[in-house]
Amino acid sequence: MRVAVDADRCEGHARCWSICPEVFELDDEGHAFVLQPEVPAGLEAQAREAATNCPERAIRVDA
Ligand code: F3S
Repeated sequence: MRVAVDADRCEGHARCWSICPEVFELDDEGHAFVLQPEVPAGLEAQAREAATNCPERAIRVDA
């Protein structure tokens, strides 16, 4: 499973980071970027939850 953050949509809500900090990190301006684009199997559920909880729908998940 792969994830990506759409930088044009991210508004810095930080829910992705609080739910799955192993995959999502915040830059100096509080916008998210992906640490592990190829999500390890053990983190897939968390990464999906992070995507679901992004109010801007800025996280794309490709199965
Ligand atoms: Fe951005 Fe959504 Fe995370 S707005 S900081 S990708 S929760």
